Amino acid sequence: MTIAGTGSYVPERVLTNADLEKLVDTTDDWIFSRTGIRERRIAAPEEATSHLATHAARRAMENAGVTAEQLDLIIVATISPDTFFPSTACHVQRNLGALNAVAFDISAACAGFLYALQIARHFINSGNRKTVLIIGADKLSGITNWQDRNTCVLFGDGAGAAILQARDPTDPTPRGVLSTVMASDGRLTDILSVPGGGSAMPITPENADQRLNTIHMMGREVFKAAVKHTCEACETAIARAGLKPEDISLMIPHQANVRIVDAICERLKLPPEKAFLNLHKYGNTSGAAIAIALDEAARSGRMKKGDNILLVAFGAGFAWAASIIRW
Ligand code: ACO
Repeated sequence: MTIAGTGSYVPERVLTNADLEKLVDTTDDWIFSRTGIRERRIAAPEEATSHLATHAARRAMENAGVTAEQLDLIIVATISPDTFFPSTACHVQRNLGALNAVAFDISAACAGFLYALQIARHFINSGNRKTVLIIGADKLSGITNWQDRNTCVLFGDGAGAAILQARDPTDPTPRGVLSTVMASDGRLTDILSVPGGGSAMPITPENADQRLNTIHMMGREVFKAAVKHTCEACETAIARAGLKPEDISLMIPHQANVRIVDAICERLKLPPEKAFLNLHKYGNTSGAAIAIALDEAARSGRMKKGDNILLVAFGAGFAWAASIIRW
């Protein structure tokens, strides 16, 4: 299976750390030194997650030279769907006019795009589907408590997409996904969640007043779990691909916190310049983060044909994944 094209989209409105200083008791220096984030993009009220996803999808389709009719599967990874139902993927299908596709969402928070990559890989390798559109898209601004400095400084909105197709059997270089690790640990559901608004706690005026329908996070616990699981997942993915850390040309990590990325580089003994970062511009866009970074890395020429690329992500669940792709 190969990645035939990528695309991404971020909303126009920029919210800087200086803007946040006016909303909550924080400083640009605190945010940047603890996270590496300088600014993030915020979607307009009328821009739903499917709008962000559709823009990114169109760019990926154009990049791959694929028409809407050719798509036979659409997977959207999101934790901020347009509606409980129908799925955001069905909204995207309608927007694109991709009527030959089957469309569904998956929920794996920030690991969602890598989960989607693995699901799509199975569909393609089994011969069940030929041309698959995977999208990571989130509008976290809609589920952020803008009075909570512990969380509101971290997140942003955006979408990224990729078109996946079967490998050309005449291509002598084995390109595409070389290995994957996917894992989750449901014992950690409480360290990062939106507690209200679902069937466990239907939203009421009282719990809406307490902002229980927004992101709640135990930052230090998330940090520790992220470092532990992502480091182990990277090592396993590299070993399963029959490679060594020094064979990795570029790492595209989840864009949550530069200190987590530094910890992975240190553990793998990867030079920090091998890590692709754009979190200073966009913050943590959850399911979109790896997808946007992959697109930006591809378009900026950071990846050459034959390069071994390490993708790694973690998020609420706790859910995490790593993958080695040969570009
Ligand atoms: N500005 C100023 N001070 C702040 C802010 C802020 N924005 N936020 C918290 N503080 C304060 C805290 O109140 C605390 O004060 P106290 O010591 O008086 O109680 C102090 O700063 C230190 O807080 P810590 O939590 O120890 O700060 P830490 O160094 O752990 O950094 C952070 C916090 C950035 C949240 C870090 O823990 C982190 O990045 N965790 C991982 C988060 C993450 O990756 N989440 C996304 C997962 S992806 C998904 O699924 C959506």
